[in-house]
Amino acid sequence: MKTLIQILTDKASVAFTECGYSGELGTVSVSDRPDLCQFQCNGAFSGAKLYHKAPRMIADDVVKRLSDDPTFSKAEVVGAGFINLNISDEFLLEHINEMLEDADLGIPQAQKAETIVLDYGGPNIAKPLHVGHLRSAVIGESVKRIAQAVGHRTISDIHLGDWGLQIGLVIAELSERYPDWDCFKDGFNPDSFDDIPLTPEQLYEVYPFASAKSKTDETFKQKARQITADLQKGDKVYNALRNEIVKVTTPDVRSNYQNLNVSLDLWLGESDSAGYIPTLIEKLNEKGMLYESDGALVANVSQSDDKVEIPPIIIVKSDGSYIYATTDLATLIQRQEDFDPDEVWYVVDARQSLHFTQVFRCAKKAEIVGDDTKLVHIGYGTMNGSDGKPYKTRDGGVMRLSDFYNTVYNAALERISNSKFSRDEEKEDIARKITVAAIKFGDLINYCMKDYVFDIDKFLAPDGKTGSFLLYTVARVNSLFYKTEFDYSFDSKEIYTDVERELLIKIALSPEAYLLAFREKAPSVICENAYQLASQFSKFYHDNHILTEENPDKRKAWLNVCFALKSVLEKQLDVLGIESVDLM
Ligand code: ARG
Repeated sequence: MKTLIQILTDKASVAFTECGYSGELGTVSVSDRPDLCQFQCNGAFSGAKLYHKAPRMIADDVVKRLSDDPTFSKAEVVGAGFINLNISDEFLLEHINEMLEDADLGIPQAQKAETIVLDYGGPNIAKPLHVGHLRSAVIGESVKRIAQAVGHRTISDIHLGDWGLQIGLVIAELSERYPDWDCFKDGFNPDSFDDIPLTPEQLYEVYPFASAKSKTDETFKQKARQITADLQKGDKVYNALRNEIVKVTTPDVRSNYQNLNVSLDLWLGESDSAGYIPTLIEKLNEKGMLYESDGALVANVSQSDDKVEIPPIIIVKSDGSYIYATTDLATLIQRQEDFDPDEVWYVVDARQSLHFTQVFRCAKKAEIVGDDTKLVHIGYGTMNGSDGKPYKTRDGGVMRLSDFYNTVYNAALERISNSKFSRDEEKEDIARKITVAAIKFGDLINYCMKDYVFDIDKFLAPDGKTGSFLLYTVARVNSLFYKTEFDYSFDSKEIYTDVERELLIKIALSPEAYLLAFREKAPSVICENAYQLASQFSKFYHDNHILTEENPDKRKAWLNVCFALKSVLEKQLDVLGIESVDLM
């Protein structure tokens, strides 16, 4: 379905053409003087230059045509040639009715559905998730849903960090602590691997310990390096052990993501790219891209117009092990083979931008992906504490993601403990939804690249630009529907008040936000739009007393407005990865 702006632009373009002018002059936009009109078209000014005519004359011609169209309740020329437009109430109501009946709620669908692979989450196995892992998951989940909302096919992959030095360190440490484990004995058959007798918590203690040890104990460090290199060369025992470590820790990772309403299609890791590394090396050699530098194999990815130096990308280290870039390139080969994507989006900390510049250039140069495949790094800033530094625990340590979640959850539970609307048994579920809404909206309302300060009181506030405010808005509508036994049909014939009309126009314009959000890969656009809708609804709700209204037509019309609002708002919440509530 076309958006309201597209429909109005089409109509204005036809009018321009019928008057003998270029249809391209007919662009209609939301009025920047809402006190004067709802929409405007300034095409007469560009037309004046093209046709050497006064803009006012062109605008007069066009307006004569538009005035006959029942779509418009007003079409007039003001000033030197501005065209001011209002749409008729009948047209507005009919448009909203069509939106509500449309399976995509009026969100225009891409003409050609693209396949987009999204890489987000990216936790490193054997280390607990910490708050630094929050943004990739939250932003990734939302940009995925935005892409789906406009009609694209998505494949999301967590790309677990399960192959790097951290695994080597953990295995090295385990081998020193548990030399009697069968897997550390000579002649062990990796096919007969038993589960390792460790909990995630026990494993999480091993990594920081081993990492600290490697800083003071050179022999241990070398051992971990060797294990990492052997692991990557395909050592069966180490790989079986790595699998066990992944098996022990993945449920914890999953439950963290589940709490946050984040779901991924694929749980592949860096290690799954192993089988594609020989092909990678082959492709790079075919193009003559690989050369030796200090014992390592590297490829040049600089370009003559670089303003800053882009260093060569390391593919094989001098000890024969692979690095982050190697697995990213090999993974691209796998993605190309499995999905032939039109785009691949990486939602990763902005500080990794050099890495992605190198990887993308190398992938294009080596023709791992086609020329027209878009490789995009969606970088993001950090979530900070009130001191403006990356968010920490009270004693300055790294905060676990689960502890962070629980802190917000407990605060949310406390806030609703006295709510008369929710039954006791529902409170935990509501608190969970408020938590997700507070965390995600607080994050996504910011432009991704910006750092932001996490402020629990601000994020949980029931009013203002918060997730809670949006949930309250939906709950308010639901409560009205329970009280009035609303029949979920939109059959309005008339608009009764100005705030009501203003809200309906905002509702009718809401699909527009998805196009911009997709183009910019910016969930903040949806957040802002949802907030504007909810604020306008507050005004409408306070000004029009629905429950006490005696005129049954008016009352039904107002309930219909609530229904339309709830439908578009819930879709927006869903696209942000936020679950809606019934009552709260
Ligand atoms: N594990 C990486 C890290 O912690 C993030 C992975 C992001 N995805 C990727 N394909 N590089 O920094």
